[in-house]
Amino acid sequence: MSIVEARATKHFLGLKGVSASEIASILDRAAYWEQYPTKVTNHLQGKFTANLFFENSTRTRFSFELAQKRLGAEVLNFSAAESSVQKGESIYDTVRTLESMGIDAGVIRLKPIGVLAELAERIKVPLINAGDGNNEHPTQALLDLYTMRKHFGDLKGLTVSIIGDILHSRVARSNLWALQTMGAKVQFCAPVNMQAPELAEHAPYVSFEQALAADVVMMLRVQLERHEHGMLRSAEEYREHYGLTAERVARMAPHAIIMHPAPVNRNVEIDDEIVEHEKSKIFTQIANGVPIRMAVIERTLS
Ligand code: CP
Repeated sequence: MSIVEARATKHFLGLKGVSASEIASILDRAAYWEQYPTKVTNHLQGKFTANLFFENSTRTRFSFELAQKRLGAEVLNFSAAESSVQKGESIYDTVRTLESMGIDAGVIRLKPIGVLAELAERIKVPLINAGDGNNEHPTQALLDLYTMRKHFGDLKGLTVSIIGDILHSRVARSNLWALQTMGAKVQFCAPVNMQAPELAEHAPYVSFEQALAADVVMMLRVQLERHEHGMLRSAEEYREHYGLTAERVARMAPHAIIMHPAPVNRNVEIDDEIVEHEKSKIFTQIANGVPIRMAVIERTLS
């Protein structure tokens, strides 16, 4: 399904092809919700939303639930481990079941590549991508852009280094598409076996030294659960070559910030003492996830 077709059915699948004005309007609406004086509103009273997580999550799942509850929507939480998926029911039959019960929107996270696109062809109720294999994680990128825009005032002209396990990262892909649309320059830094060759035509791979000179140093989690055997020789070796240590942070520009989508592997891609360093925006990113997801849910359901 193309982005245009997806928009016609109101699915929110990704940021590739989404216009700068649409991204800016979501960021602006998130700013509205961040400033909103009361914690709970009745904007989506009477709407039923289901969180369909077929892969583990803490930040995305709970911030979607907070966002839904703050908007006054009813929330159904589905966990694959406690569902009929354990009896062999397919992802399609599960989502179709919730649709036939009358939910108004589904927030969905999936591990297998390509399944969300297939679901979006067959399911009429709007689906919001909460993490789709290694393809896209659009609300994560939007909260990242929101965090950068809030810190720097504008995204245009920023240089953003995305460092680490690019190959398996849906966060890297969604950030790449959205940041470039908004006029930022994206560069990657990764070990050769964690590079995504198909992205090289969109953004250059640079050395760690060059990556550290950026306005934003965005570290990625090493996604061990997606690795083929032997991809990571040791945590120590990874940290030595690609970890954000205090010594490397000292070489960053004074105005630059550190980001990471979390969860973090402490002392692998980022040192323990850097997680809450004064340059780190990691917990600010997490906080910004709630207003961003309010804006996305509202847009999908209005
Ligand atoms: N950043 C992120 O998606 O975290 P979770 O896997 O905990 O949702």
